[in-house]
Amino acid sequence: MTYASSDHAEVPCLQLRALTKTFGGFRAISDVTLELRRGTINAIIGANGAGKSTLFNLITGHYTPTSGTVRYDDRNITGIAPHRLSKLGIGRSFQRTNVFAKLTVFENVQAALIAHRGLGPQLFSSSASKFVSETRDVLASVGLFDSADVPAGLLAYGDQKQLELGITLALDPTLLLLDEPTAGMSAAETEKSIELIRRIVRERGITLLFTEHDIHAVFSISDRILVLEQGSLIADGSSQEIRTDEKVKRSYLGGRE
Ligand SMILES: Nc1ncnc2c1ncn2[C@@H]1O[C@H](COP(=O)(O)OP(=O)(O)OP(=O)(O)O)[C@@H](O)[C@H]1O
Ligand SMILES: [Mg+2]
Repeated sequence: MTYASSDHAEVPCLQLRALTKTFGGFRAISDVTLELRRGTINAIIGANGAGKSTLFNLITGHYTPTSGTVRYDDRNITGIAPHRLSKLGIGRSFQRTNVFAKLTVFENVQAALIAHRGLGPQLFSSSASKFVSETRDVLASVGLFDSADVPAGLLAYGDQKQLELGITLALDPTLLLLDEPTAGMSAAETEKSIELIRRIVRERGITLLFTEHDIHAVFSISDRILVLEQGSLIADGSSQEIRTDEKVKRSYLGGRE
């Protein structure tokens, strides 16, 4: 199917239709339907075990849905393997930090670029000379330019999470899924990191879907907030709508605001 460019802007970046995932008899995700508009910042909130990471795993091909469909850029991607989805422009980070501790910060990002784009025609020349300026650009955008030569395992925890974001950005995603990008960070690190994420996705026009337990961070950057409870979407709206939603206040926000 081809689109006139003005029509294409209206095609949702991501569409989930009646998505369901069961483990044995347990419904971890139950009949979730939603659409994400291009270039918007979207948060998923919900208590521990609500199904946030499972939903991410269904979108990124790490889990196959029991039923329902996932469409990305108006293409059915249900059941497609994660490495193929990352080539199509879906990037993600994981709830647990995932960097190569013994490689330097620079090498971590460079390795991601090489894995994504390949070594090109000079397959047998040293990989150390590949994507040097691209790697520096990525490090600058996540604030790690000055730490390029530090082994990743020696970085402070917050900086490891920033590096993980850099590795994900190296794959040039149009849809970015961040699962608790600030987990384990101090309040000050969280604020800095959330602002950095906001700036990067706005600059690049990336569609962001993220989970986050820091409710102030959620309200501060999200165009839209989705609330999951025991695998079902119970609310969907702007920060203002979610703040004042009685069901959400009862079941999740209760006393936090
Ligand atoms: N592979 C699996 N096998 C069995 N049950 C699973 C599996 N993955 C997730 N679950 C269950 O599905 C439910 C949702 O888990 P999930 O990790 O998606 O929650 P979450 O909202 O990300 O929670 P948290 O805020 O703690 O990260 C939980 O009850 C969990 O135990
Ligand atoms: Mg989770």
